[in-house]
Amino acid sequence: MKQLINDEIFYVGVSDRRIKDFENYIPLTNGVSYNSYLILDEKTCLLDTVDATKASQFFKNVEEVLAGRNLDYLMIHHMEPDHCALIAEVVLRYPDVTLVANIQVFKMLYQFFGTEYKNKLVIKENDTLVLGKHTLKFISAPMVHWPEVMFSYDLTTKTLFSADAFGSFGALAGNLFYDQVVDTDYFNEARRYYANIVGKYGNSVCNAYRKIKDLEIKMICPLHSYIWRQDFSLLLDKYLKWATYQPEDKNVVIFYASMYGNTEEVANNLAVALANKGLNNIKEYDISQTDETYLISEIFRTSHIVLLCPTYNLGIYPKMQQLLHAMQSLNVSNRTFALIENGTWGPITNKLISEELQKLTNITILEKKITIRSSMSKDNEKDIDELATMLIEDLQNK
Ligand code: FEO
Repeated sequence: MKQLINDEIFYVGVSDRRIKDFENYIPLTNGVSYNSYLILDEKTCLLDTVDATKASQFFKNVEEVLAGRNLDYLMIHHMEPDHCALIAEVVLRYPDVTLVANIQVFKMLYQFFGTEYKNKLVIKENDTLVLGKHTLKFISAPMVHWPEVMFSYDLTTKTLFSADAFGSFGALAGNLFYDQVVDTDYFNEARRYYANIVGKYGNSVCNAYRKIKDLEIKMICPLHSYIWRQDFSLLLDKYLKWATYQPEDKNVVIFYASMYGNTEEVANNLAVALANKGLNNIKEYDISQTDETYLISEIFRTSHIVLLCPTYNLGIYPKMQQLLHAMQSLNVSNRTFALIENGTWGPITNKLISEELQKLTNITILEKKITIRSSMSKDNEKDIDELATMLIEDLQNK
């Protein structure tokens, strides 16, 4: 069924609730939407396509909106297959269509489809495309996920088509606008999407933000999840924190790895010690039981991170090693860490994890580090109490 979102701009995207893992590794609990838009002006212009699995619904949407008109342009903002997969079929169905994109997109288009398309319009930053009443202006946004990414800005309706930026996981259910729903989990999922997909490229996101910050924007249309038409500051404030690797919340999150429950007990005791000293909003994760993409999202949210880790094969427990590697890959910065190690005969992870954390930018590791020998001792109780005090003082001072 047709969905008009603004003056002559229609939504023709689809939601996918069958997908289990985005990019075949990020678990989804409520699917994802692949957004696509169609402008019906003197010229018709489709903005991106959708994932191949949703071809049937997508083409029904497009045909319904076109209502027998031809498709004049297909603007391509991003060449990841969740958006580009159906370009070849669009050309088959609408052979007169002109593909509009930058030179990098056309190179990728050939790589994906092995075809050199004849009807093409190569555009670059600040070029414009007049559709009639609407004029699209193009803004380069390299590495706001991939290097070829562009945004489009409709000068007429002040609509920003923002590619992956400002997107999130989560299928849409009729309501296309964020202001139409009460979605208490939205920013958790938006952060998980951002941190794991775009998190590495914070500088690029800041560069793109500088280009759009002075534009008059009445609507933001991303390639995933809700469209925004109000409360922009809510969205932009979160985005800027994520892009600059600043924590959203001043609080403590405890991440523990535990094989037989002894390290887990220490983590629980630390949480209780923090709570007894008046700290609220403490979070605790068994990193072997929670998918890493959720852990990374929590690390992007929080200021103080406690890592508890058993020694394993004379090194770091594999799940913790993996989490540290993800932090490095995603450029986690500006965080405070506290470390607790456990080892029956050769505890060494405080040293090894410290070395890994030194590869991050602008991090602090609290001086007090705790060693557990197999299970928590009376001495350790005192250590835990001191570390809890230290964490709270550090929270208050930062
Ligand atoms: Fe939603 Fe980078 O593609």
